[in-house]
Amino acid sequence: MAAPAGVATAARPVHTAPTPLEPVLTRTREELAAVLGSLTGTRALVMTMGSLHEGHLSLVREAQARADHVVVTIYVNPLQFGPGEDFEAYPRDLEADLALLARAGVDVVFAPSDAEMYPTPPLVRIDPGPVASVLEGRTRPGHFAGVLQVVAKVLNLVRPDLAVFGAKDAQQLALVRTLVRDLDLGVEIVGVPIRREADGLAMSSRNAYLSADERASALALVGALRAGADAADRGGEAALTAARAVLEAADGVALDYLALVDPGTFLPLDDGAHTGPGLLAVAARVGRTRLIDNLTVQLGPRHP
Ligand code: PAJ
Repeated sequence: MAAPAGVATAARPVHTAPTPLEPVLTRTREELAAVLGSLTGTRALVMTMGSLHEGHLSLVREAQARADHVVVTIYVNPLQFGPGEDFEAYPRDLEADLALLARAGVDVVFAPSDAEMYPTPPLVRIDPGPVASVLEGRTRPGHFAGVLQVVAKVLNLVRPDLAVFGAKDAQQLALVRTLVRDLDLGVEIVGVPIRREADGLAMSSRNAYLSADERASALALVGALRAGADAADRGGEAALTAARAVLEAADGVALDYLALVDPGTFLPLDDGAHTGPGLLAVAARVGRTRLIDNLTVQLGPRHP
């Protein structure tokens, strides 16, 4: 007699690889709450805007290594896009994302609509403080207030033990840590290093916008950061000069900012006297695509 569906039988060949389970797709807060209620053990959160690549999957793997269950959110948050930014054009492909997450063995996906996430326009807003007005925040006013709003909401909806964020968005990671500390959100924030293509380009959903020529020009960002790191033993000024030279020599790269900052406060470290770690951060437009990248550099004499 055939075994009922879902019941393993002794006749099952031992060499059969387990079929990866599809993640449960939830679209509403009620569906999410119901699935979360059925889980036991610890859970980790990975928040994304979809159009997933290896960078996102490295966050998923870190989450899986640290918790029993992983919840991935896919939501292009309108609150963090300014007027004239790429909110409408931002690449969206839920089916491809779900296939990647199934292969990665993710348990739960939360992909809400705008009406589900913001049933009423949010009146109570989060003020992200001074770090939000430099670098990315200076070019993109309101961006980090929008990011922290959705991060706080999703942390409350998922109530994870830990949440994983990428160092690709170093300023975002620092602000999320500050949010959790200042509002006592009681969740561990884990940072994951930047995943790069073989040639060094930082992985990004926005790389999909680049033509072949633009893709080649975009390598100037990582080239500049690496040149800066090489010159950092001669101090902050030298690091910035070396990095700027690479960006100025590149075709089709319009620099937004290049800065050397304290990795914690994001205040400038370009006085030439500072020694120790610094964050070299760059943003530039390549064609119509805005790209960001960063690298931690060691300022001051190298010790053998
Ligand atoms: P998104 O750009 O989709 O990125 C989601 C997460 O993946 C972020 O923590 C980001 O830092 C990380 N990430 C992206 N590219 C990476 C790379 N090459 N290496 C390592 N990590 C990488 O960041 C956002 O979405 C949004 O602001 C969000 C936090 C989801 C809030 O809307």
